[in-house]
Amino acid sequence: MAVVSYQKSKVVLQDNESVLQGLERLGEKIPSSCRSGACQCCLMRAVAGAVPAKSQEGLKETLKSQHYFLACQCVPTEDLAVTLPADDAVPVYPAQVISKKQLNEEITSIRLSCPAGFRCRPGQYIQVMQDSHIRSYSVASLPIEDGFLELHVRKIPGGSMSTWFHETCQPGMQCSFRGPFGSCFYVPDADRQFPILLVGTGSGLAPLEGIARDALQQEHEGPVVLIHGSLRESGLYHGNELTALQSANKAFSYRTSVVESGETESADIRQFAKSELTRLGAAGARIFLCGAPDLVNDLKVRLFLAGAASSHIHCDPFIINAAST
Ligand SMILES: Cc1cc2nc3c(=O)[nH]c(=O)nc-3n(C[C@H](O)[C@H](O)[C@H](O)COP(=O)(O)OP(=O)(O)OC[C@H]3O[C@@H](n4cnc5c(N)ncnc54)[C@H](O)[C@@H]3O)c2cc1C
Ligand code: FES
Repeated sequence: MAVVSYQKSKVVLQDNESVLQGLERLGEKIPSSCRSGACQCCLMRAVAGAVPAKSQEGLKETLKSQHYFLACQCVPTEDLAVTLPADDAVPVYPAQVISKKQLNEEITSIRLSCPAGFRCRPGQYIQVMQDSHIRSYSVASLPIEDGFLELHVRKIPGGSMSTWFHETCQPGMQCSFRGPFGSCFYVPDADRQFPILLVGTGSGLAPLEGIARDALQQEHEGPVVLIHGSLRESGLYHGNELTALQSANKAFSYRTSVVESGETESADIRQFAKSELTRLGAAGARIFLCGAPDLVNDLKVRLFLAGAASSHIHCDPFIINAAST
């Protein structure tokens, strides 16, 4: 059995136990959130021993080469000595809350100051650190053009960070974050003609709005279709902003999918997304799926079967874990 050394502690891992589980069993507080390889909150570095390739999936090459790994995905076959990330490899930025605005019953918009030297692409996510918690939130704004980082935070009953954002956080307060992470962002091709389809529900709109604005800002010439879904009309938000964006850009279309509307064409977001993809032309289309994990995973399969290339489907499932700390 592999032995994991961390600071002054040592733990012998049990069968199929991850580094995260083993260290928690010892009582160590290791930052984590999704516990399934999606959020990178449990990033650690191996200072001795080799980590399995699976525990480095999705990490930037620069982090991989410095032996960083995801503790929740790491079931080592040899002894390891591990540490938390160094500030120079994964810098932590201070930020001030500039404004807070309720977008609908469940979702609030938080604008953070954009620290000097911080660069990120709209659609990537940052990890906000508050007390001992660390959670991922997608960037909805264009940080350089807008001058701030906008997050759309859905309130999760009993959730530590989302409750802090909804109930305690006020303009003027300080927080810190690290990042950026993720590869869900607009990458222009030489011809800029390919169709773009963006689909999400709830706060999944955050990265999609950022990606759509970024593509239009970069003068994308092909059609850009954004579908925002919700169970009921009141779950939608930013309708005015997106309608204005549509009026100002003939390449952009804003569509909504509301289950309770009963609309034959649009109420079923899965069917609606598939027919929009067929209309746009599946071959060559770039697809972005964000938000509720079940929907994201389901759409990923359906749109692939409808003809989209798997390398052109980019997903950010907002995985929340019941056992998160
Ligand atoms: C890549 C990525 C990007 C993300 N981007 C965003 C974003 O832009 N906006 C956003 O709002 N969130 C986003 N998330 C989710 C976010 O990171 C947090 O997981 C979420 O805000 C919950 O954190 P919390 O601290 O409030 O809840 P936690 O303290 O983590 O607690 C979760 C609690 O809620 C309960 N719970 C678990 N699942 C659910 C559920 N589906 N509904 C209700 N309760 C549940 C559990 O019992 C648990 O006790 C993203 C996640 C990932 C992985
Ligand atoms: S990737 Fe390990 S906790 Fe999210």
